[in-house]
Amino acid sequence: MKHVSTVFFFLSTLLLTVSVNSLPPPLFPDEALPTKSGYLPVKPAPGSSMFYTYYEAQNPITPLPNTPLLVWLQGGPGCSSMIGNFHELGPWRVLSNATKLEPNPGAWNRLFGLLFLDNPIGVGFSIAASKQDIPKNQRQVAEQLYAALAEFMDQNPGFQNRPVYITGESYAGKYVPAIGYYILKEKNNGKVNLMGLAIGNGLTDPVNQIRTHAVNAYYSGLVNAKQREELERGQEVAIALVKAQRWREATEARTKLLTLLRNMTGLATLYNQARMIPYRTDLVVDLMNLREAKKVLGVSETVRFEECSDDVDEALREDVMKSVKFMVEYALERTNVLLYYGMLDLRDGVVSAEEWMETMEWSGLGAFLNAERKVWKDGDGDLAGYVQRWGNLTHVAVSGAGHLVPTDKAVNSRDMIEGWVLGKGLFGGGGDVVKQKLRSSFLASS
Ligand SMILES: *[C@@H]1O[C@H](CO)[C@@H](O)[C@H](O)[C@H]1NC(C)=O
Ligand SMILES: *[C@@H]1O[C@H](CO)[C@@H](O)[C@H](O)[C@H]1NC(C)=O
Ligand SMILES: *[C@@H]1O[C@H](CO)[C@@H](O)[C@H](O)[C@H]1NC(C)=O
Repeated sequence: MKHVSTVFFFLSTLLLTVSVNSLPPPLFPDEALPTKSGYLPVKPAPGSSMFYTYYEAQNPITPLPNTPLLVWLQGGPGCSSMIGNFHELGPWRVLSNATKLEPNPGAWNRLFGLLFLDNPIGVGFSIAASKQDIPKNQRQVAEQLYAALAEFMDQNPGFQNRPVYITGESYAGKYVPAIGYYILKEKNNGKVNLMGLAIGNGLTDPVNQIRTHAVNAYYSGLVNAKQREELERGQEVAIALVKAQRWREATEARTKLLTLLRNMTGLATLYNQARMIPYRTDLVVDLMNLREAKKVLGVSETVRFEECSDDVDEALREDVMKSVKFMVEYALERTNVLLYYGMLDLRDGVVSAEEWMETMEWSGLGAFLNAERKVWKDGDGDLAGYVQRWGNLTHVAVSGAGHLVPTDKAVNSRDMIEGWVLGKGLFGGGGDVVKQKLRSSFLASS
C-alpha cells in the first residue's frame, strides 16, 4: 500500500512537472495584471457602463490614501484608452509583437495610481445601452465621466482623498478641460479631489490650432510656397464654416485639410514626422482580441474590440471644431494645468499650441508669455525638451516625440508627469499644501 501511494505520488508529480513545462508562458505575467479592472455603471444612462483598468502605484512615496491618482483619457473622438495602457504609459506594453508584453521603463504608475477609462461610453470595452446614450457634446462627456469617477470612488473606499490628476491626449484636449471645468464649477465638494489637468498634444482650440498647419509645414521645409497657399485656402474654408456654425462641415473640412497635408508631404503619418511607419496601435487591437486578454481583464469573450468607435466618432462629429479654451481659462484660476506637446507631431503640435495659448484670457498670461523657456535635460544630460512655466500653467515641448509622447519618450514622459505632480524641478508649480507635503516626502525618500 505504502509503496503504491509513493509511486503514485511520484508519477503524478512527474506528470504535473511535464505538463507545466510544456505550457507556453502566460500572455500576461503576474506583474502585468491590472490591480483591478471592470465596469463602472454610468448612472444618467441606464444599462451603460464605462470599462476601466487600474494599476496601483508600484513604489509609492506616500501612504496610499494620499498617493496621487492619474486618470488617463484617450482621444479620437472614440478611441480606446487601452491604446494608452498597452502602447504608451501603462506598466506593460506591446511594441513590436501582439503576443509579447514588455515592461515599460517609463510607466506612469511608478509613484502614482493609474486609472485608464474607456471614455465615453461606446468606446473600447465600454458599453453604450443605445446609440442615443453616446454623448454629443462636452457637457454630456463630463457628466458621464464624473458619474464613472464617482462610482469608482464609491467602489474603492480609501480612494476618496487621493489627489486626482486628469490626463489625456489628442481629442482628450477636449475631455480633460470638460471634466475639469465640470468638477471645479459644479462638484467642488464632491467625490473627486481634483488637483490638476494635463493634456498631451491636445485639440483644444481648433480654429487657432488649424491656422498653423500651412506656416508650420512651410517653415519646416515640408511644402513650398504654392502648396502653403493651397493649405491656407483649406484652413480658411474650415474656419469660415466654424464662423457660420456649420459644425459638421467644418469637421469634414479639417479632415480634408489634414489629408491634403499628408498627401503633399508623403509622410507615413502626420502623428510623427520622423516615423517611417504609423504607430503600431494595431498590436493593441490584436492583443485585446485574444481570449486570454479578455479573460484577464474581465471582459466577455464575445465582445470584439475596436481601436476607435465609429458610433462615437459620429456622435461627436459636431463637437470637433468647438473650442474648450474657456474651460482651460477657468481651470487656470483654480488648479494646475500642464500642456505638453511632442515636437514631431504635425496634427496637434507645438506651433499650434503656441498659437492658441497666447490667445487665452487668463490673468497670468502676460507673465507666462514672458517667462523663460528653460532647456530640459534628461538623466544622461541629453536634450529632453523645453519647459515654460508661470503660476498654474506649465507648458512642455518634448524633443524626439510625436503625438504619442509616452510611446516615443517613455522615461522622459514619466519624469515630466512626476515632476509636475510633485512640483519638482523645472516642472514645479503652484506650491499648495498637498504638493508641499508630497515634495518633502519625495525628497526625504530619494
Ligand atoms: C511574438 O512573441 C511570441 C511570444 O514570445 C513568439 O512566440 C512569436 O514568435 C513572436 N512573433 C514574432 C513575429 O516575432
Ligand atoms: C489624397 O491622395 C489620394 C490618393 O492619391 C486622393 O484620392 C485624394 O483625393 C487626395 N486628397 C486630398 C485632399 O488631396
Ligand atoms: C492657481 O491655483 C490655485 C489652486 O491650486 C489657486 O488658489 C490660485 O488662485 C491660482 N492662481 C492664479 C494666479 O490663478
